[in-house]
Amino acid sequence: MNASLQKLRLSFAKYSIDAFLVTDDVNIRYLTGYPCQESWLLILPRHVYYLTDSRYSLDARRHFGRINVVECKKSAFDSVADLVSKRKVHSLGFDERHLVVVSFRRLKKALTRKVRLIGTQGLIENIRAVKRENEVAAIRKALCFHNECYQYLKTIIRPGQAEHQILEKLERFVLRHQQIFSFPPIIASGPNSCLPHARISDRKIKKNDLVLVDMGIEVNGYKSDLTRMFFLGKIPHLVREVCEAVAQAQRLAIAQIKPGVLAKDVDSCARNFLKEKKLGAYFSHSLGHGIGLEVHEKPGLSPRSPSVLEKGMVLTVEPGVYIPGRFGVRIEDMVLVTSQGAKVLSGLI
Ligand code: GLY
Ligand code: MN
Ligand code: MN
Repeated sequence: MNASLQKLRLSFAKYSIDAFLVTDDVNIRYLTGYPCQESWLLILPRHVYYLTDSRYSLDARRHFGRINVVECKKSAFDSVADLVSKRKVHSLGFDERHLVVVSFRRLKKALTRKVRLIGTQGLIENIRAVKRENEVAAIRKALCFHNECYQYLKTIIRPGQAEHQILEKLERFVLRHQQIFSFPPIIASGPNSCLPHARISDRKIKKNDLVLVDMGIEVNGYKSDLTRMFFLGKIPHLVREVCEAVAQAQRLAIAQIKPGVLAKDVDSCARNFLKEKKLGAYFSHSLGHGIGLEVHEKPGLSPRSPSVLEKGMVLTVEPGVYIPGRFGVRIEDMVLVTSQGAKVLSGLI
């Protein structure tokens, strides 16, 4: 059985549980490798049950070897209750962030009174924060095609093109290469770039504009997320100064990254530098985030993050300065935490 499943089982004793019900598809995909939808996973010390319905059971049976596939005939709640009773489970753990109140109530009702439901938070997400080699390999693959997208963008971002026209071309490019985005791209030109997550508009790009492109590609569920700035002509002095400050803030933060460092200290390294440059008030979001099967996952690189960096984490580092009504600059790269420090994975771009 895979190491991540074993890690999860090791936490059973701490929470005094003898089984865990995983109700989040991303976490199930992580534990099983199966790109599932609308399923649950019941993990016992020696058995694993994948619960699904007739839409998915045939495909799931083809995929799974040692995991039992249960086709829920009535409801998932009843199937869990049957299994829990058959396997004599007394305390069933679940993640409070992934079970809505209505489902919790239905589950409680379906279980016999002898079974205690124990709420936990983020057990699997904490395990996911440290990537396995195959996960880093998938992220590298996503970045490889991501690089091709940026090369392509360089050829199509031209004065006269509207933001939505660039998006349309980029979408066709991605589709033609049988790839997918990891989130809807952000293409923000001129003053639109002062909104960190601007919506794509019909604004036409002008001579001497800057264009912010934040996008991501997904390979086997694993995601990339980078932001690049494109300049179309002369770069005004203030824009150049801001770009240099943002790039330096990013370099300083990346240089801080190594196992054992507090995530919030990496954030404050970039934040303090931008404050020194009198730009601190314009850096309105956190410095970065973990990334993997989800675009935003643990650990957060923010002033409030409780996380300590560990070898194998993959992070974005994305300082930004947004001057209202004028322009915004964000530079976002992805790094792998290694024993020697941060290795920039997006270095080719
Ligand atoms: N594109 C979302 C982010 O950079 O976090
Ligand atoms: Mn991004
Ligand atoms: Mn990001």
